[in-house]
Parts: sequence; C-alpha cells; structure tokens
Amino acid sequence: MSESREQFTDVGDLLRSQRPAEPVYCVFPHIYRQTARDFLGGFPGRVLYAVKANSDPGVLRLLMAEGVHHFDCASLPEIELVDRIDPASTKYFMIPTRLRGAAEWAQKNHGVRHFLVDHLSGLTQLLKEIDPSRSIIFARMAVHHESAMEDLSRRFGAPPDEMPLLLQSIRDSGAEAALAFNVGSSVIDPEAYRYSISVTRSALEQLSFRIRLLDVGGGYPKSYPDFIVPELEKYFRAVKESVATLPLADNAEVLGEPGRALAAPGMSALVEVLLRKDDRLYINDGMYGVFWVLRIDGHDRYPVRAYRNGSLLEGDETSFEINGPTCDSTDTLPGRVPLPADICAGDYLEFGNIGAYSISGRTDFNGYYSDRIVTITSAAERPPSV
Ligand SMILES: Cc1ncc(COP(=O)(O)O)c(C=O)c1O
Repeated sequence: MSESREQFTDVGDLLRSQRPAEPVYCVFPHIYRQTARDFLGGFPGRVLYAVKANSDPGVLRLLMAEGVHHFDCASLPEIELVDRIDPASTKYFMIPTRLRGAAEWAQKNHGVRHFLVDHLSGLTQLLKEIDPSRSIIFARMAVHHESAMEDLSRRFGAPPDEMPLLLQSIRDSGAEAALAFNVGSSVIDPEAYRYSISVTRSALEQLSFRIRLLDVGGGYPKSYPDFIVPELEKYFRAVKESVATLPLADNAEVLGEPGRALAAPGMSALVEVLLRKDDRLYINDGMYGVFWVLRIDGHDRYPVRAYRNGSLLEGDETSFEINGPTCDSTDTLPGRVPLPADICAGDYLEFGNIGAYSISGRTDFNGYYSDRIVTITSAAERPPSV
C-alpha cells in the first residue's frame, strides 16, 4: 500500500503554482530520515516509535525505511495501521486500558506479544484474552519528575511499592515480566531519566528473578522558540549510565518510546492569513486543528516564516496574536508571534517543527479540516526551526 502524494521542490514552488485555500502539511523526507538516523544511532537500546505522535502512513513509511521496526501502539487501529504498512514490524500494545477483546484480536491476528498493565485487576482482565506463554507483559510504574511538561503519572502507572507484587504476578502467570515507565512529555532535564531509573531499583532488588526488558518511555524534547532544550545526546547518556547500574538480566535491553523527537522536525504547516485586524491575524488553521497541543503546558509557539507571492517575506517585525478560523472564543494560539510588520490577508505562514501531536489530533470542529499532505522533495529545503 502506498499513498500517492503531490510533490513540490520546495514551499516557494508550491505557492508559485497555486494559492491553497486550505492548510497544507508539508513532509520533508530528508529531515525524517536524518532524525531517525540520529535517534537510532544515539539511543542505547531498542527504539519504539510512539505512533500517537504522528500516524500519517507516509511518515511511518519514512521511519520504517530508515530502520524503525518497533512501534508503541495504544489501540487496535494503530496496530492494524502499522501492520498493514509493514507486517514484519513489531507492534507493542502499550496501554493499560484497551477495548474489550482488543488484546485477544491483536495477538491472534497481528502477532502482538508485548502488552502492558499497571494494576493487578488489569492483569486479570488481560490474561482472559491472551496466551501468557507467548507474551511479554510490562508492569508500568508511575513516576514523575518536575522537569516533565506533561505529567503522565496521574492516570497511568502503579506506585513503585506495588511493583514487586505486580511483576511477580506477571511472572506467575507464565508471561515474561518486564518493567516500563514514562516520565512525561517534553522532559526538559535529562536528570529526570536518571531519577526515574533509580526509582526502579528498589522493585528490581526485591524480585527473586531478573528482568530482561526495561522500557524508559518517551519524553525526549525538541526545541521551540523560547523553549530551548538540551541535546538528545545528554538524554541518551543519562539512560545508558543509569541503566548500567541496575540489577537486570545479563541479556537485558533498554527500550525507548520516542514520539515527538522522531515526528516533530520533518513536517511544517502552511497556512493562509485570512484576515488582519491591527495586530491580530486570523489564519485557516487553529487550536482545533494542528495547533491543539499548544493547550498543554510546554512550548507556546512554533518557528515560523512568512511568504508573499511565493517568495519569503522579510523586513521589520512586530508581534501578532494569531487566531484560528473557527467561531469558538478559545481558538487563539497562546504565544505572540513575531512576523513582518506589513503582513496581510493573502500572505502565507509556514510553521516548522510541527510534525508531533498536530495532524494526529486535529478535529473537524466547525467544519474546518484539511487532509492535504504533500511532499517537499528538495534536500536543500528546510522547514523553519529554532
Ligand atoms: C506511554 C507513552 N510512551 C511514549 C510517549 C511519547 O512521548 P513523547 O512524544 O514525549 O516522546 C507517550 C506520550 O504521551 C506516552 O504516553
């Protein structure tokens, strides 16, 4: 299965050949390839791409072509999507809540072997649907660090002191027991991984067996304007050094679940300015579209550049409030955005680094929805970045 996508040399080429009235999402294959190569080359273990960050089939295919063969999925449709594109890839069903019957279907029809629980009651339910002798079940530990912009430990994860019993119960079921945590999203301090890994120690020391797989989750951040984060290398070192001190099996492996770090840099959103009212711009995408994640703590804007008649628009800048197109009163982007002072309706803005948690969560609220995804072919073209 391969989707045929419109191709343009660069964004200027697109804008000179047409004036798109709907938002256009631009995929930069060379950036996806480079990003995947860098992460795979640096992360000290197995890389599972978190499909939720961007489940566009074209993006999945680019990551696969570069060597990403393991996928962190949260639902049967995500598993089916990955399986359709690459049946040989390994799909992990890494969420403690599943629709009834989904785990059974995933194992029987898609060969899924990796599952996750965070409570004994969830384990009991899971064991009704899967064959434990063919399964690896991760016990998810709740862990939080102040440097995580999004605290993912509130909804999922067992308290560390419940982990020994949960892990032992998984082992008693006949499945392989493994340990997972997810410290958060946009984790701005690599120490968060050292801390979280150190929290697993007490549970691991209480076990009568050694576990083989330790999943340290996602959260590897990217930089945005006024939100500059450390190099990924520092995160990789923190994981490597601290895992080395744990009592794990001799053939132990670390797993990571990057979403944003792989998905963000290779996509930009090209939008039209619909209306200017003094220092307020109204554009054809907004908080119900690809900018939805700006509702969550972390960065409040994206790197951006402006175009007029297919060429870059430059000049003295002033800062603007940016509004989406819907009639909802909350459809305003949170941060003010510096742009050329004479920007006007009919100009275009290109927002870079927008490939994560953008198209995967856009809605058709109020009838505004674009599914126009194009490929930018020139390796010399780079989306806006910080
Ligand atoms: C369990 C789990 N793994 C991985 C991720 C991916 O996180 P990120 O995109 O911050 O790397 C998330 C994000 O919510 C998650 O909840």
